[in-house]
Formats: sequence, structure tokens, C-alpha cells
Amino acid sequence: MTHLTDGSDGLETVIAARTVLSEVDGAAGRLIIRGHSLDELAGRTAFEGVVGLLFDGFYDDLPGDVRAALGQARAEVFAEVAALDTGLLDRTPVEAMRALTARLADGDDAETAFRLLAAPAVFAAAVVRAQAGEAPVAPDPALRHAADVLRMLRGQPASDAEADALDTYLVTVSDHGLNASTFAARVVASTRAGLGSAVLAGISALKGPLHGGAPGPIIDMLDEIGEPANARAWIEAALGRGDRLMGFGHRVYKVRDPRADALKQAVRWLDARQGRLEFAEAVEAAVLDILREHKPNRPLQTNVEFYTALLLEALAFPPSAFTCVFAMGRVAGWLAHAREQLLGGRLIRPASLYIGPMPRKAA
Ligand code: ACO
Repeated sequence: MTHLTDGSDGLETVIAARTVLSEVDGAAGRLIIRGHSLDELAGRTAFEGVVGLLFDGFYDDLPGDVRAALGQARAEVFAEVAALDTGLLDRTPVEAMRALTARLADGDDAETAFRLLAAPAVFAAAVVRAQAGEAPVAPDPALRHAADVLRMLRGQPASDAEADALDTYLVTVSDHGLNASTFAARVVASTRAGLGSAVLAGISALKGPLHGGAPGPIIDMLDEIGEPANARAWIEAALGRGDRLMGFGHRVYKVRDPRADALKQAVRWLDARQGRLEFAEAVEAAVLDILREHKPNRPLQTNVEFYTALLLEALAFPPSAFTCVFAMGRVAGWLAHAREQLLGGRLIRPASLYIGPMPRKAA
């Protein structure tokens, strides 16, 4: 099948892969991850459960005990934290985390995949601590991934409710069709460059503010608004400057992003933050009202990032590191998609339409 587009539509109409991993139904507001709707998974399974689901059938040497293998991988990659020098600490957390991830060996096997799965969590926790002048905390391989992430970040154990909330987040963002970072990972995997290269491509695409870089600025927006009475004036001024409101709009969802409600529910469980949640709901309502007025023909709704910001703030991640936490979850999807591409796909090499000048004919 030939599909004609000049690219100005952001490839919106192009189907660029067949996948068994996830389906995003933008009209119904439904996300399916390997045969399960999001509400069957979020808040019901740990991150390790969704990793098992996504990786199943894509590796010959997949370990039977995902939790133990991921714990061991965290302990192994921790050795690279020693390479965290002052040059890297001047970078943003996602840039420093990406640089440490680039130190890991490339490969296509399950052992490589588990190290890459562990990397964003171990490196982001170490970077955040180092930027605050604190020594890194070594992983505890016996813990579930979410509990250990919070422990490595804070230097003390998290409550079960907090680990459950982080698990809900990691599961919710683990995979999401052919989003920009997953597409980037698949393109790199299709060249047979290796899983590490695919994950680095994924991190690089994720960090942009139109994709996984949105939630940090959402905290700035909430802090600048300060109280519900200021919301309309702040939002009108932002739109007047031509700014986009972070946490709203989506390429695929024309209705509310189902992940927003899964995460809002998780924020509610951390009941210490009810005041902040109520304030955020008031700002969300104001944004949706004003977007309807400004863009009456565009169905702009809340996306996953709005309540991501609230949840990660409640879990004490600094906003500068929110994109790293996104990578901790989405890396599972990148690795599964990279293997799916490698096992069943061809080199991804689309055509372009030349619109430049033609060479002059010789006189
Ligand atoms: N605030 C204000 N206006 C918006 C927003 C927004 N958040 N989102 C889209 N629009 C407007 C655009 O200005 C454009 O208006 P116009 O047609 O009058 O020029 C129209 O809606 C369509 O925008 P597109 O850029 O064509 O939509 P696209 O599908 O390319 O963009 C995107 C999707 C990038 C998510 C966009 O909605 C956006 O920038 N949102 C803010 C950033 C954000 O929240 N990113 C996280 C997305 S979720 C994720 O990646 C995990």
C-alpha cells in the first residue's frame, strides 16, 4: 500500500508499523496494552507485571522472575553512577541520565534489555541526589522497582501507598502506540543498531516539551497562577502570547486521555495533597473552558501530563526530573517495540518529496 503525504501533517495519517503491543483509540478515549484495557492494569499490577506482558515472546532468554532480574539489573548498572562528574551535573537531569545510559553496552538480548530497563531509574535517582549535593543510594535488588526508585531518590523507604502510586504511573505510561519516542526507537532498532541505541533515541525524542518534557512546566504554570481566581487572566495572557498550555491537546485523543483519570485517581490515594489536587482541578476546568472559546473547532482536552505533574510532585520528584520518570516507565515500551521491529520489520526508510530547485541544463 502506498500512502501519500508530504509530511506537513506530522505523518498523522500514516500507519508505520503493525504491533501487538498497544492500541490508542483516540475517538473512544481507550488505551489497550497487550489485550488489557488500561483500567485492568493501572493500580492493579506492578511495573514488573506490565514488563512481563510487553516482553513476552520477544526474547528467547527472558527471565522467569522479572522482579528479581530487574533488581539485579539495577545493582549492575549502579556501577556507572561513578561516572557522574561535575560536567554532567551542570546538565538537566534527563541529559545527565541519557549520558550515563549511553555508557551501557549495546546488544539485543534480554540481559541488555533489563539493564536498559533499570538505567533511567538508577541514573535519575543518582543525578537528582547529586544535584542536591547528596551521595547516591545503591539499589536494593530485593525491592519491587517502584519502591526502590523512591528509596534511591530519598535515601529512606517509601510507604506502600507511595510505591503503589508510582507503580500506577509507570504502568500507565509504559506503552502508547507509535508516539514520537517509540517511533524514534523503532527507526533506530530497524537499522539493527542495538537496544541501547534505540533507547537513547527514545530518550532524546521524549525530552522535547511537545512530548515528555511537558509536566515540569505544568508545575511552573500552577505556581504562577497561585490561586483559582488568577487562572483566567494567566491563561488568557499565555494564549495571547501564542504559548501552548502544557498538559492539554493530543495528536490522537480527540476526547479526554484515559491516562489522565488513572493518574488523578493515584494522586487522590496520596491524600495529603487534596488541597493541591482541588486547585489543579480548578485550573484544568478554566483551561478547558478557555481553550473551547479560543479554538472552538479543535477538540483540545486534558492529556496524561497534567496529572503526571501532580503525581510526581506529590512523590517529591523535582520538576526538572519529571521527564526522567516518564522514561523509567516508557523504556519498557521502547524495548518491546525495538524487539518487535527487529523480529518482524524491515529497515524503516520512507521516501521524501523533493521540492528544491532542479540542476540547470548545460548550455
Ligand atoms: N494549548 C494551546 N493550543 C493548542 C494546544 C495547547 N496545549 N495544543 C494544540 N493547540 C492548538 C494549536 O495551536 C493549533 O491551533 P491552530 O490550528 O489554530 O494553529 C491546534 O490546536 C492543533 O495543534 P497541532 O500542533 O496541529 O496539534 P498536534 O496534534 O500536532 O499537537 C500536541 C499535539 C503537540 C500534544 C499539542 O497539543 C501540544 O503542543 N500540547 C502541549 C504540550 C503537551 O501537553 N505535550 C504532551 C503531550 S502527551 C505526550 O506526549 C505524552
